[in-house]
Amino acid sequence: MESETTMMRCAVFGASGGIGAAVVRQLAARDDVEVVFAGSRRGAVPQGPRIAPFQFDAMDEIALTQVVAGFGGTLDRVLVTTGRLTRADGSGPEKALRQLTPAALAEQFADNAIVPAMIARAVQASMPRDRASVFAALSARVGSIGDNRLGGWHAYRASKAALNMLMRTIAIEWARTHPHAAVAALHPGTVATALSAPFQRGVAADQLFTPDASAAALLRVVDGLTPADSGGFFAWDGTPIPF
Ligand SMILES: NC(=O)c1ccc[n+]([C@@H]2O[C@H](COP(=O)([O-])OP(=O)(O)OC[C@H]3O[C@@H](n4cnc5c(N)ncnc54)[C@H](OP(=O)(O)O)[C@@H]3O)[C@@H](O)[C@H]2O)c1
Repeated sequence: MESETTMMRCAVFGASGGIGAAVVRQLAARDDVEVVFAGSRRGAVPQGPRIAPFQFDAMDEIALTQVVAGFGGTLDRVLVTTGRLTRADGSGPEKALRQLTPAALAEQFADNAIVPAMIARAVQASMPRDRASVFAALSARVGSIGDNRLGGWHAYRASKAALNMLMRTIAIEWARTHPHAAVAALHPGTVATALSAPFQRGVAADQLFTPDASAAALLRVVDGLTPADSGGFFAWDGTPIPF
């Protein structure tokens, strides 16, 4: 049947997160989705029909490759919704340079840049070479160097800028090996999740998205991405953001 050939196989890394869980639920509810592999490092992920949970450690590249091989086929959508703004000990983000430490920088780069890059490396062999696919990772507008007028949040901003560069570099490589793929960094808006909870006070109510609203907007952007957009950085409404 023709409809079976167009059913999408999706993977969401970070499915225990506020935005990631909403993305998983919305993908799994779609008629054009066959399966959503829903991965988390340690958190609980949504359950339900067409959702296949998995665990991963992005810092173990051999184990990560084996996890992806276990999906048993190509992936049409890979969405990386992992990331952190504060450190594991609850500190951060920095308000001033004097608060910046090597450990803070290393931890933020690991969580926000290294994890998505290693996921891209692991799924590379599963991205189709002969038809359209999307690899998208959640970045943040504050990772835009050109848009940085407020300062602060040194490690988070720098780690997201590094993520954006990694996505652009992967896009250039995949334009040769996977010419129908689109690789993008996405800004989800300001979203009411555990990540933003300590910082929501100054945000106007109409500018604070629910995870469901953000996920719906992000999936609209993802659906519209083409190879011509590959390497780009886009907001939740599809507007390009300067690097
Ligand atoms: N919320 C916002 O307002 C906002 C704004 C701009 C950008 N973003 C970006 O959007 C993304 C998702 O944020 P969120 O608001 O949904 O946050 P969240 O609810 O705190 O979820 C974060 C997710 O990232 C995972 N994660 C963190 N570090 C990881 C690591 N080293 N390895 C594997 N998984 C890791 C967590 O998994 P565990 O449960 O296993 O720890 C969790 O699933 C982040 O990249 C964030 O920077 C969010």
